[in-house]
Amino acid sequence: MPLLQLAYASRPVEYDGGVLTAILIEARRCNMRDQITGALICREDLFLQLLEGPAEAVEATYARICADKRHEHVRTLMRREIADTARMFSHWAMKYDPADSPVWTREEVAVGVPEAAGMEGVVSVFGRLAI
Ligand SMILES: Cc1cc2nc3c(=O)[nH]c(=O)nc-3n(C[C@H](O)[C@H](O)[C@H](O)COP(=O)(O)O)c2cc1C
Repeated sequence: MPLLQLAYASRPVEYDGGVLTAILIEARRCNMRDQITGALICREDLFLQLLEGPAEAVEATYARICADKRHEHVRTLMRREIADTARMFSHWAMKYDPADSPVWTREEVAVGVPEAAGMEGVVSVFGRLAI
């Protein structure tokens, strides 16, 4: 069965180690249950997350995430079907990356570069992290 791969960007409301840890623990617990894998890139100005898994589970998770008050300005960047063998983060319930990897700069995020990046641009950011 094909899977859904979805990426979004948002802005943390409060950027704090305790909040981040709580999000990751919760995300990993739910994602293991829901057969979802992915990655979360974090910086003061940016959450950038990729979710992949069964379509219904990914949509339900994304709906919960969109309603979460720990971030704001959620924008969907990419949504595509992938083969069930094509997960980018098959070994990660949610890989964490503190945006040390090459990702858009604060200035680029502020002027909307992620929204304009298109599918290839988004996949390439996560692709570097998946190596
Ligand atoms: C930036 C961010 C990323 C999140 N990532 C996930 C995730 O990958 N999976 C997940 O189930 N919940 C994730 N959450 C948490 C959800 O918003 C929600 O709190 C959680 O799924 C539990 O939902 P429930 O209390 O309705 O059961 C994330 C929240 C934020 C703010």
